[in-house]
Amino acid sequence: MPTLRLGDDAPDFTAETTEGTLGFHDWKGDSWAVLFSHPKDYTPVCTTELGRVAGLKPEFDKRGVKVIGISVDSSDSHEGWAQDIEDVTGNKLNFPLIADPEKQVADLYDMIQPNASDTMTVRSVFVIDPKNKLRLSLTYPASTGRNFDEILRVIDSLQLNDEYKVATPADWKDGDDVIIGGAVSDEEAKEKFPKGWTAKKPYLRVTPQPNK
Ligand code: BEZ
Repeated sequence: MPTLRLGDDAPDFTAETTEGTLGFHDWKGDSWAVLFSHPKDYTPVCTTELGRVAGLKPEFDKRGVKVIGISVDSSDSHEGWAQDIEDVTGNKLNFPLIADPEKQVADLYDMIQPNASDTMTVRSVFVIDPKNKLRLSLTYPASTGRNFDEILRVIDSLQLNDEYKVATPADWKDGDDVIIGGAVSDEEAKEKFPKGWTAKKPYLRVTPQPNK
């Protein structure tokens, strides 16, 4: 399977999950989606990550993002583990977790990286837009839990980019100033950004976040 690159179509699949069998594209519809992998059930870092994402579900919902996890163990295993996730984090699993014992989805999305492990997935994150295009891909090692506030931050940036043709600078946070895209002329910018902008360089025009 060739590596997935930004802008590629996110491949479709059918899989068993903790919420029944689903077709990925059907389930996703025209929402945004985050697909993220877990090396193995009943492992400590994964347990904390799944609980954290369950706690952040209202934040994903607010942004129109559906979340789906995957681990290469069976549905039975996932169901037992879900109770542990709730016990440890206080958050009930509130999104589907794919069972992928044959590694079909893991292979499709290149989540098994044999020089890291040939049985467990790496920690992948894919952010997929309403048109099913891949917009973000992250790969973390098994021993490092991901920062899901960062995933939300990138989604905010992508959604601003789609709506207003702005980019976001280093360490940007929601509410900070943004950068007017290079393809936007000063004439167009006058209409699109009525709060005005500061040109730090001719190619670096900064404006208040337009939806605030
Ligand atoms: C964990 O989730 O803690 C983990 C899983 C696989 C390898 C190392 C850590």
